[in-house]
Amino acid sequence: MTRDEIVKKHKQYLFPSIFTYYNDPLVTDHASMQYVWDTEGKKYLDFFGGIVTISVGHCNPRITDRIKAQVDRLQHASTVFPNEAVVALAEKLAQITPGEISQTYPSNSGTEANETAVQIARMYTGHFEVVGLRHGYSGRSSLTQSLAGQSGWRKSLPVPAPGFVHALNPYCYRCPLGKTYPSCEVACARDVEAVIQTTTSGQIAAFLAEPIQGVGGFITPPNEYFKIVFKIVKDYGGLFISDEVQTAWGRTGKRWFGIEQWEVMPDIITSAKGLGNGVPIGITMTRPEIAASFHGLQISTFGGNPVTSVAAKAVIDLIEEDRLMDNAQTVGDYFRQGLDALKEKYEQIGDVRGMGLMQALEFVKDPVSKEPAPAATNQFMEECRKRGLLVGKGGLYANVIRTSPPLNITRSDVDEAIRIMDEALAVIAPALTGAGQFR
Ligand SMILES: Cc1ncc(COP(=O)(O)O)c(C=O)c1O
Repeated sequence: MTRDEIVKKHKQYLFPSIFTYYNDPLVTDHASMQYVWDTEGKKYLDFFGGIVTISVGHCNPRITDRIKAQVDRLQHASTVFPNEAVVALAEKLAQITPGEISQTYPSNSGTEANETAVQIARMYTGHFEVVGLRHGYSGRSSLTQSLAGQSGWRKSLPVPAPGFVHALNPYCYRCPLGKTYPSCEVACARDVEAVIQTTTSGQIAAFLAEPIQGVGGFITPPNEYFKIVFKIVKDYGGLFISDEVQTAWGRTGKRWFGIEQWEVMPDIITSAKGLGNGVPIGITMTRPEIAASFHGLQISTFGGNPVTSVAAKAVIDLIEEDRLMDNAQTVGDYFRQGLDALKEKYEQIGDVRGMGLMQALEFVKDPVSKEPAPAATNQFMEECRKRGLLVGKGGLYANVIRTSPPLNITRSDVDEAIRIMDEALAVIAPALTGAGQFR
């Protein structure tokens, strides 16, 4: 098929709700490690990694070789037939998860992983209500849409499922309480208690949050936030669920899971995306006594699929062997310095935030009013694309650039990304301010 045929048939045969990036969609053809090529042969440095999914490089042969071997050996089993691949993955997960978390329910996506987590939290506690955070994103099913803290992701009818309430999020750049850290004393964390006291029965099944809000625009909490929230969740009988769909597998640097950065021991961890490096996977991990409370019949046709499981185990092995959690920290710090320098130069960058190789830029029309600049954000993406760099987008106001390159990128990849971002900003900055003001 030609490029135009693909674009035409995409519109014709897929649901129109499946939106694509860029004014003129980028039709991907093939990829290798940190690079993607389109159907015209143009090469792009991928600093979004699919959607925060390519953790160790596109089509990395150290993963695909194992996938190919498994495809020829055993391709399907379902949860009713044990197989070596899923057992090896689950054992490995038990070794790297914090505390006593040692059992896994395998599924196919982050959505399913979160569904499973909420189901089991309700069965274990005997409570129903779940606290999420504003600006959060947890998936596309009815239940997980109900957890979303952004109206755009909550459009399903009938009205979202009952039993979900949302507390203020730790969004320091736009503090929902109008305060400033640290003099605020992390007042947003106390809102979790206020929400439980005023909008639930007072006994909750769980609190579910992302250690860094992904789709929300890499909103990164202050150090104390999750520790305070954890205590509140325990005081009201809930389980603490860490949604690590974007933050796991070393992305935030040095540690496997984002929540470990805040020294909080979750009861349940969910993940997906980067664990498979591109193959569909979801996992829900918890302590044996919580796992044991799951009652009723449960199967998953594709959960724990041997091919997927082999890929996921290979990803973890590779991250360990190549010390990619360290790389995420050091190259992430280097990248952050470059982004901070861009912020110094261009006043349209209101905020730089994130950890490790999960870094975001929030675009504003003016640094004082902080009015969001979604059009400039789109323009920035287009200009980066023209120059061969892919970045992602997020944020309630669609004004945040998200970057999450593979964990094995180097400083020279960062130099190239920063060079292109600088050029793109130089193009869009004059249009934004009318005067081309640089700091
Ligand atoms: C934090 C978070 N949780 C859950 C999901 C849902 O994952 P999936 O798209 O695999 O269903 C996403 C997807 O972006 C996510 O970012």
